[in-house]
Amino acid sequence: MKLVQISDIHLTVPGERMGGLNPHRRFAQALDDVRAQHSDAARIIITGDLTHWGEPAAYAALVDALIDLPCPVRLLIGNHDDRAAFLAAFPDHPKDAAGFINHAETVDGTRLIYLDTTEPCTHEGHFCSRRRDWLEAELLHCTHARLFMHHNAMSLGLPAEDKIALVPEDRAPLAELLTKYRDRIDYIHFGHVHAPVHGTWCGIPFASVRSTGNQSLPNLNEQELLQGAPMAPSYGVILAQDTGTTIHEIPFTWDGPIFSAGTEWNDWAKPLAVE
Ligand SMILES: [Fe+2]
Repeated sequence: MKLVQISDIHLTVPGERMGGLNPHRRFAQALDDVRAQHSDAARIIITGDLTHWGEPAAYAALVDALIDLPCPVRLLIGNHDDRAAFLAAFPDHPKDAAGFINHAETVDGTRLIYLDTTEPCTHEGHFCSRRRDWLEAELLHCTHARLFMHHNAMSLGLPAEDKIALVPEDRAPLAELLTKYRDRIDYIHFGHVHAPVHGTWCGIPFASVRSTGNQSLPNLNEQELLQGAPMAPSYGVILAQDTGTTIHEIPFTWDGPIFSAGTEWNDWAKPLAVE
């Protein structure tokens, strides 16, 4: 099963820039690349920060951008989103009984779980008891799961970034739940940090992907300020197989030279100079 993960697209009111970039153009480039290279994907999953300011016009642009894609798209909201404005633009979007944008589906034998960790007016993530109950009900009835969320639940060793991870008081209940069901959770995938970070938490591997807009610099010393730069973006391609998971970062804006080399060439030694 191939899954495409795109994250932190930060769409604005069309015409407004975000961090010096046109987020709409970047998102369109990513989707064009997916259409060209990954039309066999089972899902495109956008892990939050769909918009930058949660404006209706930005969500309307997202609705327009999502037409004519090769597979279903699944949406999560992030700290830059507005749940009510999102639902106004996507009125038929699934949500749980408590109103959170929690949803799940089984694809190719794996329960894909999309967890809403957003709370209004804060950049930190939240995992309240109602979300805990919903997630446990999902985990209880599956044999294989893959968890998608916007926020990083775990500390990443990035002091400034970690200030806006899942709040510490909600981290323990999630850790307890994931530890309980760790044998059936293949991976945790998230966005939020605008950078690729890989590791394990509660015995479960995790990975984040870059933003399609500005990237964050992995500064392990900076205590207060988030540091970003207009470095090259990418999206993730997740190959989920019975035997494991492979994740590729696709640098979809690269337009420079590409060098090709055949694997059958006898090029393990430097060629001798010809007189
Ligand atoms: Fe973001």
